[in-house]
Amino acid sequence: LPGQLDDDSRCPVIVVDVLRATTSIAVAFAGGAREIVVCGSLRAARDAARKLGPRVLLCGETNSRRAKGFDLGNSPVEWQRTMLRGRTLVLVTTNGTRALRGVADGRAVFAGALVNRAAVLRAALAEGPGGVAVMCAGTERGTRLALEDVVVAGAYVELALTEGVEPADEALAALRLWQSCGGDALSAFREAAHGRHLEALGFRGDLELASQADVMNVAPRLRQTDGRLVL
Ligand code: MLT
Repeated sequence: LPGQLDDDSRCPVIVVDVLRATTSIAVAFAGGAREIVVCGSLRAARDAARKLGPRVLLCGETNSRRAKGFDLGNSPVEWQRTMLRGRTLVLVTTNGTRALRGVADGRAVFAGALVNRAAVLRAALAEGPGGVAVMCAGTERGTRLALEDVVVAGAYVELALTEGVEPADEALAALRLWQSCGGDALSAFREAAHGRHLEALGFRGDLELASQADVMNVAPRLRQTDGRLVL
């Protein structure tokens, strides 16, 4: 969880917020988006979008609904239907962008979902032999775990084991959870509290999209540009 990462460890971090920030991010890059500015608040996102000009898309949610005055919410299905090729997006979400910003201190940081698991893991492992941390963005500002993120963390562990990585106990716990799904991520997402909340709001399609493994070959990486955090 955010806050549990050992400060001395410089290993690459894969931040997972499968419902829905990191899935939306993967969809954006698979659709040809140029970059995504990762913001810490609605106000910071509005300011960044204003400075970046009219071609920029302001994206984000409050309580999973499109934030007031924003161009797009945080729905990967909505993003997939929007022409994002060459566009710059500015994004703020409740837990996902917060988790990304929280580890942006010099480590290699990737935004990982299930749809781009293989591509992200490959990129993170290519950083060196020191291991990889998978951070579950969780809920309530990263203080509590979200079932769907741990399930997906387990999917990353499963693939990492085929690369000879030694799992920590937390990783093994996530792996067991993933294995208990028998490959049916959608059922686990539908069981999870946030999945139920999204489904009640009419976002069932987002769960379906997010539950597909390894269908997008993009590995969004965080970098600092002109004082901004950008994927
Ligand atoms: C978050 O960052 O908390 C989520 O991505 C919220 C959402 O489902 O839009």
